Amino acid sequence: MKKKDLLTLFEYSAEEIGGILDLAAKLKEGRGVYELKALEGKTGVLIFEKPSLRTRVSFETAIYELGGHPINLPQESVGMGKRESVEDVARNLDRIVHLIVARTFAHDTLTRLATSCSIPVINALTDLAHPCQALAFGQTLQEVRPGEKLNITFVGDGNNVCSSIMVLCAKLGHRFTHTGPKGYEPRADLVSKCKEICATSGGDISLTTDPNAAVKAADVVYTDVWASMGQEAETEKRKQDFRGYQVNAELMAKAQSDAIVSHCLPAHRGEEITSEVLDSKACVAYAEAENRLHVQKAVIVHLFS
Ligand code: CP
Ligand code: NVA
Repeated sequence: MKKKDLLTLFEYSAEEIGGILDLAAKLKEGRGVYELKALEGKTGVLIFEKPSLRTRVSFETAIYELGGHPINLPQESVGMGKRESVEDVARNLDRIVHLIVARTFAHDTLTRLATSCSIPVINALTDLAHPCQALAFGQTLQEVRPGEKLNITFVGDGNNVCSSIMVLCAKLGHRFTHTGPKGYEPRADLVSKCKEICATSGGDISLTTDPNAAVKAADVVYTDVWASMGQEAETEKRKQDFRGYQVNAELMAKAQSDAIVSHCLPAHRGEEITSEVLDSKACVAYAEAENRLHVQKAVIVHLFS
């Protein structure tokens, strides 16, 4: 049987995503009681080229709670692509462990890992995509607005998180709007692919530079940092470019009166989002952070079933 990975979410059907979200809800509800030991006797390796709090801790915990053993490998110790080739790292791990969870800069590094081994590879964030974050967002939506088709507005950089949220929305039939300054839209090829998916899912994708118009019908407002990991040198330029795109109380007042707000975290308080909004009742970012654990357990069970 061909092994399955989680690389971008594009490779998952709406049914598969729905199944993962349902299982995640069950695992959350039954944590400590209803546990699936999908990784009994198995080892999962985490390779991180970038810093992480949530992803690393939630994956280590997920692997442990599924009966497996997690090994964390920081890039300095592996030297993937430096000490030895990406393909050789994959070929070696393939013979020893059962799962690879990788956070890389280039998305190509992740796909090269995946195509060079016979064990499942999970994207723990690349410059292109953060599918686990999008799934945790999906689980959070199921909890707070179950069964609804929603207007979801992403305010800010059309980055990895934005792109994966857009894919999730397209797959599940939500209406997705991106607003950000010109030149910071999600990648055009990803937008086109999502629009194609929407033709059958009933979702919609739109892009605008006008943040006020973008949030007007929003049930959900989402944001992320303006400068992602690896873009630190552009921080000051981006702060200028993104002026007017802060998620603050004034912007939230223009959204639907019951709108919720989320952020993948870590947040730069006072930049892309104010503390007032992040600490408000409308904010589901911390619930979403917790859901990383449950949804990643569900993904692993799915990959090993
Ligand atoms: N949201 C998220 O992926 O957080 P970390 O970078 O801390 O893992
Ligand atoms: N876009 C951010 C997300 C961090 C979880 C980054 O890539 O740094």
